[in-house]
Amino acid sequence: MIGALTRPRARAQEAASQPVITMVDVGMTYPNGKVALADVNVAIPAGDFVFLVGPSGAGKSTFIRLLIREQLPTSGRVIVASRDLSRLRRREVPRLRRRIGIVFQDFRLLPAKTVFENVAFALEVTGAAGSEIRRRVPQLLNLVGLQDHADHLPTQLSGGEQQRVAIARALVHDPAMLIADEPTGNLDPVTSWEIIQLLIQINGLGTTVLMATHNQEIVNAMRRRVLALEHGSLVRDESGAAYEREY
Ligand SMILES: Nc1ncnc2c1ncn2[C@@H]1O[C@H](COP(=O)(O)OP(=O)(O)OP(=O)(O)O)[C@@H](O)[C@H]1O
Ligand SMILES: [Mg+2]
Repeated sequence: MIGALTRPRARAQEAASQPVITMVDVGMTYPNGKVALADVNVAIPAGDFVFLVGPSGAGKSTFIRLLIREQLPTSGRVIVASRDLSRLRRREVPRLRRRIGIVFQDFRLLPAKTVFENVAFALEVTGAAGSEIRRRVPQLLNLVGLQDHADHLPTQLSGGEQQRVAIARALVHDPAMLIADEPTGNLDPVTSWEIIQLLIQINGLGTTVLMATHNQEIVNAMRRRVLALEHGSLVRDESGAAYEREY
């Protein structure tokens, strides 16, 4: 009994001391010769909330593509949840992707499916039982505040509501990490803040959050860890920081 109570805690502590994301000397050169990332070294521990900033073309989306193994680095190592992604077998990739929830600027919902169906679909494709879907989807819609919109189609939702659906969908497999690439890029300032509050809430529940953004106001107000990329180099890694370096 005691073992049953203490072991999960020991495991949680172990998990907390292990970075969820590690990049070692990572470089990414696209086939056309464009160097999108060079010599990037970073470790993100479990539970962190990190902003990834930098001008357009600095390499933020490339950084994210490497984390979800959409691309392999051309040099160095990307380690996610203790797995070196270059050594991952092809058949292991879906399992990795379930450990990482991802949301994009343009929501990417299925237009012919309702809110409920959009979230349910992410469970269906991994073979979840109907009973699990009926239990899990309402939980997630509650979390993002859309329990009353389950039967709406994406076109019947505001941008902020669509992004909430995308966030609920990203969380279906209870991922260790939520990655957001410009999640507020298409939203007005008030709605952007609501989405940030939701990401903070999700982070408070234990999920590591990495958010790429151009939104200076939000980064400056939140004072979280900031990773800054410029021309593919990590030029700053600072806790409690602002969008731009302050002296
Ligand atoms: N598939 C590709 N092939 C060649 N070059 C690419 C490819 N994808 C991105 N790039 C280039 O790599 C660099 C980094 O692009 P990336 O999309 O990572 O930047 P970003 O920081 O996300 O920019 P933004 O803020 O505009 O989204 C840019 O110069 C871009 O043109
Ligand atoms: Mg980008």
